Amino acid sequence: MTSITAPKGTKDLYSPDIAKWQYLEEEIRTYFEHFFYREIRTPIFEHSELFQRGIGSETEVVQKEMYTFDDKGGRSITLRPENTAPVVRSVIEKNLIHETYPLRFYYIGPMFRYEKPQKGRFRQFHQFGIEAFGDLSPALDAEIVYAAFAFLRHLGLNKLELYLNSVGCKECRPPFLAKLQTEGEKNQDKLCDDCRRKLIKNPMRIFDCKEKSCRETASHFPVITDHLCEECAGHFEEVKNTLTLLGTEYTLNPRLVRGLDYYTKTAFEIVSAQLGAQDAVLGGGRYDDLSRQLGGSPFPGIGFAAGMERIILHLDDVPQRKKTKVFVAYQNAAILPDAIRLIKELWDNGITAIMDYTFRNLKKQFKRADRVEADLTIVLGEEELAAGTVTVKEMNSQQQHKIKRGELIEWIKKI
Ligand code: HAM
Repeated sequence: MTSITAPKGTKDLYSPDIAKWQYLEEEIRTYFEHFFYREIRTPIFEHSELFQRGIGSETEVVQKEMYTFDDKGGRSITLRPENTAPVVRSVIEKNLIHETYPLRFYYIGPMFRYEKPQKGRFRQFHQFGIEAFGDLSPALDAEIVYAAFAFLRHLGLNKLELYLNSVGCKECRPPFLAKLQTEGEKNQDKLCDDCRRKLIKNPMRIFDCKEKSCRETASHFPVITDHLCEECAGHFEEVKNTLTLLGTEYTLNPRLVRGLDYYTKTAFEIVSAQLGAQDAVLGGGRYDDLSRQLGGSPFPGIGFAAGMERIILHLDDVPQRKKTKVFVAYQNAAILPDAIRLIKELWDNGITAIMDYTFRNLKKQFKRADRVEADLTIVLGEEELAAGTVTVKEMNSQQQHKIKRGELIEWIKKI
């Protein structure tokens, strides 16, 4: 029988890499709680309509990349390809916008996109993200861009570039798109088939094309930042001013387009020169119309998400959460119950400990202690039992100590 492998584009995570994941998760929690974000956990699957309406039915994510299936009740279900639409759905459903201040969430979890796997690109990948609601002010955009960049720096990522753009709003974007379409039509012969299709359905995505001829042609096309309405232009100026105030360096990229259609005004991306083709570490922006698109009362939102696999690729040595590890050894099988009583006391006092329940001679037990990388091995023998003591061996220095049974926990805690 052939053995079963993990599906393409997925990964099992375990030691030693898992230490990086645990470190990253802890850092996310500590860092973003400083900015008043609280954790939200939404379901892994949602009604497909949420993503069709939220992300946009013309996007690649919705058209080609969703894991969609009918459940046994005949409902169309999709494994979440991103988490902004689910968080907004939750805020609408629980009416949180009127009940909680500040309404700020962070999340950590798996997302699913049917993409061609390559370095840094998976079909099940993990994002952490933040979303803040109910605030229209441009200073919040700057705060969020600042927090995103500062967090990645805090993790030690340094070859980063922050790209900033404004993608306008429902007032100024449609006339701009019409202009872009006209320009594209005039240059149809220089565009690839894919871009010609984009021209009709999602013209701004032309700026994303990797084809040399399309890039060259599109470099002469009009850009959104020259066509923003007064409100969007003013907002963008304030975002830039506040970023300067916060000491955050950015590169304006008027051709920055995001792969999801819900963005309004500020859009940003952070890329890393240390990654290959999949260089986007983090992306986000404002989405002031999303709640309405999902059938809720209108409320503004802004946030970002980062690819955790891509961050992990940058993390070399993470600080180890060093805990003293104890191995409990015993001289003969008759002492097993005493050894179990001892190890229970260790666990109850928050000490990391393991023992072998199948009796092996002491030499073999010491070998096991080495394999689990124990710092201390406690030996319980007839003599120790009679004297109310234990022998503790420090595995690194090989030093031995006789410790009174009643003083053992305190002694270990001091170490
Ligand atoms: P996104 O740009 O689609 O935005 O994804 C954010 C990040 O997730 C990317 O920059 C990348 O690091 C990572 N990512 C995306 N696809 C993959 C993949 N197949 N494999 C590995 N990593 C991947 C969003 O998802 C928005 N929800 C962000 C947002 C939050 N906007 C506002 N709030």
